[in-house]
Formats: sequence, C-alpha cells, structure tokens
Amino acid sequence: MDLNRQEQRILDGEQGEAAAKAMAILQAIGNIYGADKLIPVTSAQVAGVSYRTIGDAGLEFLSDFARKGAKATIPAYLNPAGMDLKDWKKMGVPKKFAEKQLQIMSAYTKMGISPTCTCAPYHIGIRPALGEHVAWSESNAISFANSMLGARTNRESAVSALSSAILGKTPNFGLHLEENRKAGFVVAVTARMEKITDFGALGAIVGKIAGDRILAFIGIRKANATEERMKSLGAAMAATGSVALYFAKDITPEWNVPKGAAIKTVEVSQRQIDEAKAAMQSEKGEVGLVAIGCPHCSIGEIREIAKKLEARKGKALTMKLWVCTSRKTKEESDRLGYSAAIEKAGGLVVADTCMVVAPLEEMGFSSTAVNSGKAATYLPSLCGQRVKFADIDELLG
Ligand code: F3S
Repeated sequence: MDLNRQEQRILDGEQGEAAAKAMAILQAIGNIYGADKLIPVTSAQVAGVSYRTIGDAGLEFLSDFARKGAKATIPAYLNPAGMDLKDWKKMGVPKKFAEKQLQIMSAYTKMGISPTCTCAPYHIGIRPALGEHVAWSESNAISFANSMLGARTNRESAVSALSSAILGKTPNFGLHLEENRKAGFVVAVTARMEKITDFGALGAIVGKIAGDRILAFIGIRKANATEERMKSLGAAMAATGSVALYFAKDITPEWNVPKGAAIKTVEVSQRQIDEAKAAMQSEKGEVGLVAIGCPHCSIGEIREIAKKLEARKGKALTMKLWVCTSRKTKEESDRLGYSAAIEKAGGLVVADTCMVVAPLEEMGFSSTAVNSGKAATYLPSLCGQRVKFADIDELLG
C-alpha cells in the first residue's frame, strides 16, 4: 500500500513514536489485504477496554502508547469496560479488578478517546450517515453501522481502530469498496419474528451458515423490525459467524443482491427458530443473574423493563437483575425515573459494561439469563455460565 508524502513522514517519526507505530500498523494491514491507499474516516469505535478481555498485556500496551504521546485526531469512542465505572462497588466487582480497569480508562482518556463505553453508539446519537467511512471495532456496532445505517467499516480490531483514531485514516479495502458490498446468498425467513429472541435465534442460525459472507434477508416484516430487534439479529450473526454486513428487504437503506441462478436461497422457519432457542438453553433451573442489554439497551428498552417491574406491584425479584446500557442512556433513565423503578424492584441499571465483559465468574455467578442471542452464545464459552435464553416477560416473571 502506497503512502503519500505526509503519511510517509508520519511513518518516519515526524509526529512521534506513537503515530509512527499507528502508521506502521495500518500500513501492514493495508499490505496484507491489498489496499491501494489510506482513506479518511470520520470516527473510530475502539474495543479492547475491559480488563477481563485485555489483561495486563493490554494494559501495558495502552499505557505505553499513551506515554508515547498517542492522541486521537478524530472523534473516537470506547466499547464497554469490565465494570460500571462509578458504581462498580454496587455491582460487586473485586477491588483488584477495578484498579486495573481504572488504569485502562486513564490510558484511553489520556489518548483523547471518549469514555462512552458502549457497544451501541447508535443509541446515543453516534450514527454515521449512508456512505460515510468509519473504523469501528465492536462486532454488533460494525454490523449495525454497515447494515442499518449504510456506513462503511471493516471489522476493525482494537489496535487497528485505535490506530485509525490516531491517524484519522483506514486502509481502503473490503467493505470500504462498493464492489465488495454485495450479498452472497439470500435468507428467506418464514418464521413469525415477533419477539426479540426470534431475532437473536435467527442471527445465531444464520451466522453459522454465513461465516464472514454478506447476505440478504427477505420475509422479515418492516413492522417487526425495530432497531432493537435488528441490533440483536446483527449481534448474534457476528457472534456465531463474523457477518459485518447484511441487507434486509424494505428495512436496510441498501439492497445489493446480484441477480441470477448463482445466488442461493436458504429458508429459516419458525420450527428452526424454536429448535435453536431450545439448543441455547443450558440452565433449566433458577439463575443467579438476569442480564438484559446485549447489545446495550436503548432508553425504550429500559422504559419497557421499568414498566414491567412496576406492574409486579412490589413483588420482589428472586435473582439479581442488571440492565446494561451506556452512561448517557443511564443518565436519561435516571432523569425519567426508570432507574429508580428498576432499583425499587431490586434490579440495577448498570452503565459502561455488560454481562460478557464483566468478571462474572470472579463475582460468583455461574448461571445467567439473557434475551440476547449473542450473550447466549458467548456466556458459556467465555464466562463459564449456564444460560437461560428467554424474552423479558419470562425473565422477569
Ligand atoms: Fe455489547 Fe457486551 Fe453484547 S459489548 S454486544 S453487550 S457482549
């Protein structure tokens, strides 16, 4: 990949060691994937924030990068951390973990990355426009940006997104190129698709079939396709596969399906959805924790939970309840009284983190109930949890 004169000077160290390292990283990625040049991006979304996922090696890398003067030059946002950065004690996060997590946050803020700590930046107004090039690295955020918003991003890693945050650029390949944004097959959905778990289960099924291929859905009714359900679909496809872009007829702003016999159609029925849901249950009894908010809850989802809990009329919950969301949405929830209603029923609105990147095992949890296909996929393998996968009514009932 060719660098222009200014980029070459950055690589040679004109803007310091950190910028040079970031340039070397992007150049190496560009060379591997056959990019012709670097192109500007308008924002970066940086994963690799939780101490649980990056550990001491990650902390060391970030602290070193910050010490060497790394600074974001474009709007850059963080993915969830391993705990609520203010109320970690309320969550029961061990002190040692919290100390390391706060060091990670300090390195990132030193570099000028906004501590949004959310995997759903699109719920807090960070919504790149159709055709806008960005460098995002959390898999559901990537899927949502590409598919529901029509923005252009590759599946960035934590380090490449951080490099893009510093340089404001990304290598021009993959989903930044129009000719690559085409569906490879069609999924005809005959299932009813009326619940959020239908979307999570559909995503879990299709992700396994797709791998990293682009696909197009037909048969999902627009009236059923709320942003919350579509984010759940995209998140699950990115968890069981690595789908970064899909089209959905009459729902997504783009529809790019080549015509001809080469395009195969796969059908997904209600029976398959129900079987997938059953296969995702590994806990038949009581759970220690109900965790809603993978991807992070919108204010509408929090309102729904608060109303359902109010309807219990003081009947206490028998398990812990976390409602995971961004700090900004939690503040709105506080203002609107939803957080108070949830706390009154014994739950907690947890900001900055989620059930997958928090240290669940260290906190003594072994079984967790979720309404997310992505969380149901990851919790057993990454967090040692037995899982119940159900809709909110059942989870709170
Ligand atoms: Fe977000 Fe955590 Fe799920 S980062 S997509 S809530 S696994």
